[in-house]
Amino acid sequence: MKLASGYKALWEATQKDYPGETGVIGLLDQRGAFESMSNVVNADHSDRFSKPTARTWRSSIDPWTFQRSTTVGALARTYKGLINIKSPFDLTLYTRLIWELQPKTILELGSFQGGSGLWFADQMSILCENPGEVHSFDLHTKRIHENAKHLLLTFHQIDLSKVEPLDKNLLIRLPHPWLVIDDAHVQVFSIFSYLSQHLVAGDYYVIEDVITMLNKEVFDGLQLVEQAGFLVDTYYTDAFGTNVTCAPNGWFRKS
Ligand SMILES: C[S@@+](CC[C@H](N)C(=O)[O-])C[C@H]1O[C@@H](n2cnc3c(N)ncnc32)[C@H](O)[C@@H]1O
Repeated sequence: MKLASGYKALWEATQKDYPGETGVIGLLDQRGAFESMSNVVNADHSDRFSKPTARTWRSSIDPWTFQRSTTVGALARTYKGLINIKSPFDLTLYTRLIWELQPKTILELGSFQGGSGLWFADQMSILCENPGEVHSFDLHTKRIHENAKHLLLTFHQIDLSKVEPLDKNLLIRLPHPWLVIDDAHVQVFSIFSYLSQHLVAGDYYVIEDVITMLNKEVFDGLQLVEQAGFLVDTYYTDAFGTNVTCAPNGWFRKS
């Protein structure tokens, strides 16, 4: 399991080279490190993926509330001076997913100023052994900043309310694995329905901000997601506590 490889390596190195230090009062006992290491190394990962309709709607904490309204909080949501509207939890989660998945394609719906697309492109170039392409889509492309430039990054102007606006030839050409992030909040489940046909097993589709309450649109949408063969990856939704992410119940992996 790729995500646990660092834990396993340290565990094995400690057992091999410092056998007396593997107990709860040994080298690993740094603020509960022994317990968490033991949990990771000896874990049964079989419950990682969950049916979307089987998930709780509770969040342990709202990742936005503590940092949204202050100047410092607003400035914390920038990247290289450009606006990047991601919570600190989600920045960490995306970093982890990009490393674990090694996506060849990242599709972002909702570019805003271009800061998040730039961040995804930088992440891909740092974390992926074979960096691929980042494509970011928005209706209001004139406000994309001139500094949001990267060799891997292309912006496209489209109106997502028209549901099938994404260039089919582009989608067919783009290599897998894919990571799709819907941060536009426009016709979310219709767009999912269209785009998900182009995803293959192992690809990820993250829906930000929308799945926060159980109304009919969301309930029907989650059934659609489930029928299309997607499961919630709880390694991402629950890494910092249940649904402590701006995509609660929204980190989907195609089975
Ligand atoms: C929440 S913002 C994206 C934030 C950005 N991903 C970030 O993390 O910084 C949502 C974006 O959706 C775009 N949008 C709204 N309606 C749209 C439509 N019909 N088609 C395409 N994009 C649209 C807006 O222009 C806006 O930039």
